[in-house]
Amino acid sequence: MKIAVMYQSLRGGTRRAAIAIANSFQSSGATVGIYPVTNIDAQFVLDADLLVIGTWTDGLFGIGAKPAQIGKLNALPDMSQRKASLFVTYEISPTKSLQQFEEWAQERGIDLIHQQGFKVRGPFSKDISGEVADFTQKSMEAIAPTDVGLG
Ligand SMILES: Cc1cc2nc3c(=O)[nH]c(=O)nc-3n(C[C@H](O)[C@H](O)[C@H](O)COP(=O)(O)O)c2cc1C
Repeated sequence: MKIAVMYQSLRGGTRRAAIAIANSFQSSGATVGIYPVTNIDAQFVLDADLLVIGTWTDGLFGIGAKPAQIGKLNALPDMSQRKASLFVTYEISPTKSLQQFEEWAQERGIDLIHQQGFKVRGPFSKDISGEVADFTQKSMEAIAPTDVGLG
């Protein structure tokens, strides 16, 4: 299984979350590529069974929160019909940001697998390994080939 993790980070928190996600998928046996959205390996992304896309939550802390720098995500290659899990990092609430990220994915025809927020704040972030394991598990369950058991 091949997984491409693409992230947009301003101060490094989303990058750290992306690395934790990539490590978690790798521990589960996947081949993982991890890239800032502005510098992806197009061939790897094209071949991947699952795309993971993450950005941080931008807004006025509560009011008008949205996925940050969506313009950079718009520059990614066509992802219609592709399976993708989305994540946002946040400090206050991921709700509005995730909602808009989901709408963005729908507009692009993405086959949305899972979405999740990670509370990340500066160098003293709490341990997100439990949440990351959850993200990985839910994503992999949804893309794993199912044994229909006809025999
Ligand atoms: C300009 C700015 C606006 C932000 N607005 C919000 C917000 O409205 N709601 C929220 O939960 N977090 C908000 N945050 C927090 C970031 O989403 C959070 O710290 C994120 O993890 C930062 O990711 P980064 O370290 O990759 O840049 C904001 C951060 C910045 C810099």
